[in-house]
Amino acid sequence: MLHDLERILIDRERIAARVHEMGEQIAGDLMAELDREGSSAESSERIVLVPIMVGSVIFLADLMRELPIKLSLGLVAVSSYPGATVQSKGATIQGELPADLKGKHVLIIDDILDSGRTLALVKSLILERSPASCRACVLLEKQVERAVEVHADYAGFQIPDAFVVGYGLDFDGHYRNLPDIGVLRVEAT
Ligand code: IMP
Ligand code: MG
Repeated sequence: MLHDLERILIDRERIAARVHEMGEQIAGDLMAELDREGSSAESSERIVLVPIMVGSVIFLADLMRELPIKLSLGLVAVSSYPGATVQSKGATIQGELPADLKGKHVLIIDDILDSGRTLALVKSLILERSPASCRACVLLEKQVERAVEVHADYAGFQIPDAFVVGYGLDFDGHYRNLPDIGVLRVEAT
């Protein structure tokens, strides 16, 4: 599997350090939000994480353990790279959005912001449900021109325009289990 990588872009230690920092920042912001409303981070039932499946699973698992707040999960699945391709085919939602987001503080979590279509789609569907707030958090932000204007409130790393795998990110369903993030060799695609 490692032979299919051209190089490691971000190793596991850097990822862990950054996820820890992001957790502190996000937890601080969410707690401040609850504070303003006079509710407590221990007891509020209003924080909902909405991870975009499947790419965000590992990031989600690490990030949510950095958030010492009462929260729930509402998964959403979006497909944009069906089959063996490194080209986005446009984001389509699979199945249902989590029910009952009205009045909740929503944090969307995704692995990477690329064309922006995935995040824009999920954000617009969530906003239709009248949440109290909606923030977006991505581990990676590709430095490319977005096809759709969309903003991530939290971004772990800025990366160049290359197809990356590992730490949840896949090519054709594989490489998600690599602990580091690497650039895929062109021959492997
Ligand atoms: P966007 O809709 O183009 O912004 O792409 C976001 C989605 O595409 C992410 O949730 C990823 O699943 C996938 N994606 C985009 N770029 C990459 C990449 O370099 N490697 C693996 N998946 C990617
Ligand atoms: Mg994805």
